[in-house]
Amino acid sequence: MKEKDILGEKSEINLKAKQFISSLEFDEWIFEADVMVDMAHIIMLMERGIIPEKPGKKILEELEDVKYDDLSEEEDVHVAIETYLKNKLGEKVSGWLHTARSRNDEVATCIRIKSREEILETVNKLLKLNKALIKRVEEHKTTIMPGFTHLQHAEPTSLSHYFLSYIQSFNRDIDRLLDAYDRINKSPLGGGAFSSTSFDIDREMTADLLGFDEILENSMDAVSTRDYIHELISSLSNLITSISRIAEELILWSTKEFSYVDLPSEFTSTSSIMPQKKNPDVLEIIRAKAGSVQGNLNSVQTTLKALPYAYNRDLQEITPNLWKSLKSCQDSIYLIKEILKGMKINEGTLKEQSQTGFIGASELANYLVKNRDTPFRRAHNMVSQAIEKSKDYQEIAEFLNVEEDVVSDVMDPETIVQNKKPRGSPSKEKILESKSNLEKEIEENEEKLNERLN
Ligand code: ARG
Repeated sequence: MKEKDILGEKSEINLKAKQFISSLEFDEWIFEADVMVDMAHIIMLMERGIIPEKPGKKILEELEDVKYDDLSEEEDVHVAIETYLKNKLGEKVSGWLHTARSRNDEVATCIRIKSREEILETVNKLLKLNKALIKRVEEHKTTIMPGFTHLQHAEPTSLSHYFLSYIQSFNRDIDRLLDAYDRINKSPLGGGAFSSTSFDIDREMTADLLGFDEILENSMDAVSTRDYIHELISSLSNLITSISRIAEELILWSTKEFSYVDLPSEFTSTSSIMPQKKNPDVLEIIRAKAGSVQGNLNSVQTTLKALPYAYNRDLQEITPNLWKSLKSCQDSIYLIKEILKGMKINEGTLKEQSQTGFIGASELANYLVKNRDTPFRRAHNMVSQAIEKSKDYQEIAEFLNVEEDVVSDVMDPETIVQNKKPRGSPSKEKILESKSNLEKEIEENEEKLNERLN
């Protein structure tokens, strides 16, 4: 079966083929951006006297009312909007719209506009997450717990030290996203199919109307690059990979074996067969979404690799990876925030656990360095042997030839943590200092977000 559309005689395309190459489903993301692009373009065409005012104004009026749901099934949103205008106004009027442009510069502009909006929304959500974490830091300034390396008890730390580490990492994600924003905020419109146009258009004017910082000068690069999608998904992938590590830890921490936290019931689900179950499904899906976003990044990279200049339809297949990644990230940021906010922290268990597994052993070695003039490597060896050969603190003390209460005092997790004074360490003093530094960064990031929102 063949169909005709506004693209004319040559577009007698097989229906299955048309559906196959259609991007309309995912173009819902750029629908509003496309209407804005159409408006800016028409205004510029009228201003430059490239098209007559009368049809231009009619098109503008009609564009005010168009809804995504009113569009017919076309190859993409650009053709669908033009078809809509043709049905409303007749081709004598609507036919002026696509003067001096191509869908190639049009779609590139739309993706950049929508990306801008979505980046700022993602940053906004990250800021809320960081603020929620600051609250938890305040509640748990001195909550002591075991820290891990190789998932084995390593050294005691404070829970607030964990939370601050997340904040510091999310601040870097915000930096990366805002950085990408600034590179994205340049207008490809006027690039045409790739070699611009012989009409006397005003690229700066459309860039200005659409809120871009400037134009993306070379018209070939303007329409054919998707490096900004590559870059943005890479940042998103980085971000959600960090979230997946937190999700994984909370899954572990909420097991009977750890019992460090109780997850908020609203963010768990039950089993259809085992009535006692409270499953961390939300955290598991967050963990899995990180895999999907990494997959999306891989799709973009492999599709772009060795793709000849300028425009190829392959580029269309890249775009949905971005929308899906943004949605996964934004949902995950919101959900991990709610879980971190709502989970109950079992301070008693954390404290108890921070006393097990000779977790203060490094500090005992440090004691020998500080008080017995022993080089660290030798002290490390002595403590390691003492632990291996002894069953309790008394035997360790005998082995090392120190008073018994020295061992228990030096290995006391509370004391260990509070004695750590370099910047960024887990003692209360340094937690408060880091908290205030990171809060300052959050405020600065908030300002950067607001500058870009205005
Ligand atoms: N929907 C396309 C995309 O997302 C834009 C259309 C360009 N089509 C073309 N045949 N040049 O890339």
